[in-house]
Amino acid sequence: MSTDTKPGKILLVGFGPGAKEHMSLRALEAMTEADVIIGYTTYIKLVKDLIVGKEIIRKGMTEEIDRCIEAYDQAKMGKTVALISSGDIGVYGMAGPTFEVLLQEGWTPDSDIKVEIIPGATALSACASLVGAPLTHDFCSISLSDLLTPWPTIAKRLDAVGASDFVIALYNPKSSRRHGQIEQAQEILLRHRKPDTPVAIVKSAYRRRQDIQMVRLDQMKDCEIGMLTTVLIGNSSTFMQDGLMITPRGYANKYEGITGDALEGEQKGRSLSMGLTGWHGVVREYMRNGEFHTLRKVAEHFNAPLGQILQAITAANDGDQAGDFSALAIEGDAFAIIEAAREWGLLRAVVRSEAGAISELKMHAKDMVQKNDWLNIENDYFHLHINWPSVTNVTLVRRDDSYRSAFFTDIHGHSVFNMSLVRTDNKFDEAAFKAFEAVWQTHQPTPRQLETSDQ
Ligand SMILES: C[S@@+](CC[C@H](N)C(=O)[O-])C[C@H]1O[C@@H](n2cnc3c(N)ncnc32)[C@H](O)[C@@H]1O
Repeated sequence: MSTDTKPGKILLVGFGPGAKEHMSLRALEAMTEADVIIGYTTYIKLVKDLIVGKEIIRKGMTEEIDRCIEAYDQAKMGKTVALISSGDIGVYGMAGPTFEVLLQEGWTPDSDIKVEIIPGATALSACASLVGAPLTHDFCSISLSDLLTPWPTIAKRLDAVGASDFVIALYNPKSSRRHGQIEQAQEILLRHRKPDTPVAIVKSAYRRRQDIQMVRLDQMKDCEIGMLTTVLIGNSSTFMQDGLMITPRGYANKYEGITGDALEGEQKGRSLSMGLTGWHGVVREYMRNGEFHTLRKVAEHFNAPLGQILQAITAANDGDQAGDFSALAIEGDAFAIIEAAREWGLLRAVVRSEAGAISELKMHAKDMVQKNDWLNIENDYFHLHINWPSVTNVTLVRRDDSYRSAFFTDIHGHSVFNMSLVRTDNKFDEAAFKAFEAVWQTHQPTPRQLETSDQ
């Protein structure tokens, strides 16, 4: 600490995309208030007219941690230090490393040196504002920089958000040394998105060299992209019109046109019929009205895991059945169903691999043996090993008099396996059928239990 007893202060300032008119009032004040400004050379250049007369400490791109240490050292001397960053300093910015350094040095929020974070308009907001309204539905950002993040992590995130239909903002898409990441990103996203998915490539938003390219996803990797570019990739409903990239909010799910009346079954100000409390009813209605469909087809239609469809069928009431399907969730020990199934005779077990291969095995439940964490099905023809702890739910399913099955699903609602009674000449073995029905009766909730679960 200097002889001056005034405690120092660290201002973490996000100054927005670059132009003064897009800086917040507090960001401008903070730079005026500071004795010292610390920043990456390019950031210092962007705000040079606003920091005339200040002590300025410029650091290179790879000296991020040095910037944090310098800020702390200066604050310990009793100075007010503004550590500046473009966009929002908490978004891929210096706020995180600064706190990491401070905490490592023994600083706490109660220390004399106070830290204030001043938010700013992010690059993704700034870039979006230049191309229309691409972020008006769920979106996420992914940085393609593998300087500090392993590529398998980045690739997994790209794959997950690609499949989840998020609008995506790609930060740090390319640099003079990194070219392949944007190519890989395109390849991964094209597994999930149409080639003509709209893409906006915005360079240096609100800066002197601003440049915008509106392209399709299959053209993205061949475009001019650099360090100062953010790439915005649409979801399945994003469209381009008259040079604008728009992602609809979802009004079309509820209203005729965007200003018309509510569609049948929808109410203004209320959750959609496909909202949290309503959508299981929509599944049952679909199953009542639909042509023949397997449970898997229903799951595909609703883009939902099979376990959710089983829950929708389980929750059926009189007058709101799931067509000729009914289901019963088994409470308690799932292995009890394996034990009970020893009386179900010949069974057809269906097991699906993650990549889609389907094994259909004829077997008897007596072939099933639990060994440590594994449920093993072993006979002369095959050995199948099921990771038993992954089974979290068991549901019995009936379809009129033609189908009796037990589904074993995991915590995500994905099928681990299911086993169905086998029919010969369109008839179930009588004893096996009776044994299945007996299990159903045993596990069916009593009217009293039903009453309590309704409350
Ligand atoms: C370290 S991150 C900084 C992010 C920033 N803190 C924010 O809140 O947006 C750097 C990346 O941000 C993006 N970026 C920053 N300023 C930008 C601008 N003016 N125009 C387009 N992209 C920009 C680029 O993707 C660049 O590689």
